[in-house]
Amino acid sequence: MNITFLLNGETVQTEAPATRTLLDWLRDTRGLTGTKEGCNEGDCGACTVMVTDETGPRALNACILFLPQLHGKSVRTVEGLAAPDGTLHPVQQAMIDQHGSQCGFCTPGFVVSMATAHATGRTDHDDVLAGNLCRCTGYAPIIRAARAAEGTPVPAHLAADHSHLAENTPGESPQATGAEPPFLPETTDALAEWYAANPDATLIAGATDVGLWVTKGLRDLAPVAFLNRCADLKGISETDDALRIGAATSMTDVLAALRPLYPSYAEMVRRYGSEQVRNAATIGGNIANGSPIGDNPPALIALGATLHLRHGQTRREMPIEDFFLDYGKQDRQPGEFVEAVTIPKAAPALRCYKISKRFDQDISALCGCFNVTVAVGVVTGARIAFGGMAGIPKRAGAAETALTGAAWQPETIEAATAALAEDFQPLTDMRASAAYRLEAAQGLLRRYFDDLDGKGQHVLEVTP
Ligand SMILES: Cc1cc2nc3c(=O)[nH]c(=O)nc-3n(C[C@H](O)[C@H](O)[C@H](O)COP(=O)(O)OP(=O)(O)OC[C@H]3O[C@@H](n4cnc5c(N)ncnc54)[C@H](O)[C@@H]3O)c2cc1C
Ligand code: FES
Ligand code: FES
Repeated sequence: MNITFLLNGETVQTEAPATRTLLDWLRDTRGLTGTKEGCNEGDCGACTVMVTDETGPRALNACILFLPQLHGKSVRTVEGLAAPDGTLHPVQQAMIDQHGSQCGFCTPGFVVSMATAHATGRTDHDDVLAGNLCRCTGYAPIIRAARAAEGTPVPAHLAADHSHLAENTPGESPQATGAEPPFLPETTDALAEWYAANPDATLIAGATDVGLWVTKGLRDLAPVAFLNRCADLKGISETDDALRIGAATSMTDVLAALRPLYPSYAEMVRRYGSEQVRNAATIGGNIANGSPIGDNPPALIALGATLHLRHGQTRREMPIEDFFLDYGKQDRQPGEFVEAVTIPKAAPALRCYKISKRFDQDISALCGCFNVTVAVGVVTGARIAFGGMAGIPKRAGAAETALTGAAWQPETIEAATAALAEDFQPLTDMRASAAYRLEAAQGLLRRYFDDLDGKGQHVLEVTP
C-alpha cells in the first residue's frame, strides 16, 4: 500500500504495510525519536501526535495508529511544533517557564496534546491531558503551563496544515501494492461487497483494540479493511425522537452528541479511555468487539437502542441486547458488520455509573446503567443493564421485574437489590472480586434511587 500524507508540513509518500504503526515508522524509518514509546498500548500518551484532517486537528496515540489510516492527512510530531526559525510553540515555552518537565520522557506527548488543544481553543485541560501520564513532575506545573498558553496565537505553520492538505495530498485512494494490500473502501456499499466476499478479513475502525493485537499479541491480521475512509459509515443524524449513529463515528463525536440529551451517559463517556483514545475509538468497534466491560453497551441497552447490521445488500436490525449471545459470541454472521445504532431520544431518568480503579483512563470493573419510568409513584417501566457482571453486557431481568408495577420507594429498591443476586453471578478477576462486583452493583441501584430523589452525589466529591 502506497500512501501520501503531510509530515511536519512536508509531503511524504511511503510504502505502508497494513499494520505498521506510525510510532515504529517515525522512530525507525524517519529518525523522529521525539515521539516516545512508553506502554505501546494507548495508555500513557508518550507517543501522542497531532493528526489533522478535514475536520481539524486531534491528538492520537501513534503506537496504535496504523500507517494506512493516515492517507491524505497531516501529522505533526513534537519535532514539528516549533516554527521553522526555531521559535518555540507557546506551550513549549510555557512548559519551560512553568517548570513542567523533569525527566522529560512524557514531555513530548504532553506538549503535542497541549498544542492540539491550543489549536482548537480548548481549555478543559484536565480532560485533554487525562491520557498523558507523568510520573515525576506532577500535574500542577503542567496545567499551569497549559493555562499560561491559553489565548496565545496559533503559530502560522500549524494553522496552515489544514489548508495545505488538499494541495499536497491526493484526494484519491492510496495505491495498492504488495501482497494482500489492505482494503480502504470509500463507501459503505464498497465495504459491504468486499467483506461479503472476504468474510475472514479483519475490519479495523479506530484500532484501539486491534492495535493491541499487533503491538502486544504480535498477530498477523491480513487481509484487513480500514473503515476510516467510509464517510457514510460515520456521522450522527437526528429525527424528532431518535439519534442514528454510524458505526465508524468516533467516541469524541458521540460524546458531543450525547451531552445535551443524556448528560449522565456523556459523563461516563468523558471517562472512557482518554482524549487520544476517544479520538480514535468508534462506537461500532465498542459494540462489535462484544467486550463484557465495554462502556457503551450497558447504556445503549438501558436506552432500548436498536442495532443495525449489514451483510452485502442485506440489512437486519435487533434490540441491541440480543446481539450479545455469550462470552466472545455475538449474533453476527461472517461477512456481516455493524452499520449503525439508533437510540431513542427521550430518557430523562437515564443514569450511567462507571466503577473503575482510577477516575480517568481506566476500563470499568463494572458499569451500571438505569432507566426507570415512574408514574404517580409507581414504576411503569424499567431497563437496567450492567457491564462487568457477566460474560456479556446484560439486562438485570429479575431486578426489573421486582421494580415494575411496584411503588417507587426504598422497600422496592431493597427487593430489586436482592434480585440482582439472581441476575448475576459475577467473576473474580484482576479488576474486582465477584463479591465486590455484586455489592457495588447493589450499591449503584440504591445510588440511582437517591439520584432520582435529588440526592445525587458526584463521585469526586466526598461529603460527610
Ligand atoms: C488505553 C485504552 C483505554 C480504553 N478505555 C476504554 C474505556 O474506558 N471504555 C471502553 O469501553 N473501552 C475502552 N477501551 C477499548 C476500546 O477503546 C474500545 O473497545 C473501542 O471502542 C473499540 O473501537 P475501535 O474503533 O478502536 O475498534 P477496533 O480496534 O478497530 O476494532 C475492535 C473490534 O471490532 C471490530 N469492528 C470494528 N468496527 C466494526 C464494525 N463496524 N462492524 C463489525 N466489526 C467491527 C474489529 O474487527 C475488531 O474485532 C480502551 C482502549 C484503550 C487502548
Ligand atoms: S506508547 Fe503509551 S500510549 Fe503510545
Ligand atoms: S517528566 Fe518524567 S515522566 Fe513526566
